[in-house]
Amino acid sequence: MIRKLSEFDIQQVAKLHKEELSGFLPELGKEFLNLFYETSTEMPEMFTFVYEEKGSVLGFVSGVTDARGLNKKILLRRPVQFGYILLKYLITHPHKTGIFFRILTYPGFSKGGAELLSVAVAEDFRMRGIGRKLFLKTAEEFKRRSINKFKISVYDRLVANKFYLKMGCSLVTSFDFLGERMNYFEIKI
Ligand SMILES: CC(C)(COP(=O)(O)OP(=O)(O)OC[C@H]1O[C@@H](n2cnc3c(N)ncnc32)[C@H](O)[C@@H]1OP(=O)(O)O)[C@@H](O)C(=O)NCCC(=O)NCCS
Repeated sequence: MIRKLSEFDIQQVAKLHKEELSGFLPELGKEFLNLFYETSTEMPEMFTFVYEEKGSVLGFVSGVTDARGLNKKILLRRPVQFGYILLKYLITHPHKTGIFFRILTYPGFSKGGAELLSVAVAEDFRMRGIGRKLFLKTAEEFKRRSINKFKISVYDRLVANKFYLKMGCSLVTSFDFLGERMNYFEIKI
């Protein structure tokens, strides 16, 4: 069953995000991700759906209707709580300070527009159509919000590139970010 993220799912979604997704956010840890998803529920431009079976969250997808400045907007909603978690991280990982500030200026979020931010399915439950269902739900939600196209950025090294092509997305551009190649896909709905 696919439904909207509730406060009771947040821990499971944060765990899935940490275990299944690449990038800087998972590195910041579960405490950061819990706060990230909790904060996202207060942002009208963001949505998250979970795929649940018998009380277990097996997958999730999140999207935003306008990605411009998203990281900053989220952090500034709860500056003290995020500040505390980030300070702890930067004190224990001082060599990551430069990366952290570059994340805030992530080029993908400068142009704005609707974006599927993350989709993940628990490893043991992949290739059963759950990812497709979550992707279609995202398209349905954007359409409901009168949006007729959205984009997705994905690391070039991930097999998810094949998934997005299967979903009917087209590769529009590629760019380098923090030393990694990223692809931007787009789909008209
Ligand atoms: C990408 C991901 C969400 C796909 O979820 P899934 O539930 O396995 O996908 P589905 O079973 O719905 O597959 C849908 C289609 O994509 C194809 N596909 C999915 N994973 C694939 C892979 N690794 N390689 C090739 N094709 C793949 C399937 O074959 C299927 O095509 P078909 O219907 O023609 O057979 C999942 O692999 C995942 O969570 N990966 C880790 C997280 C990640 O990288 N997320 C994307 C970055 S935001």
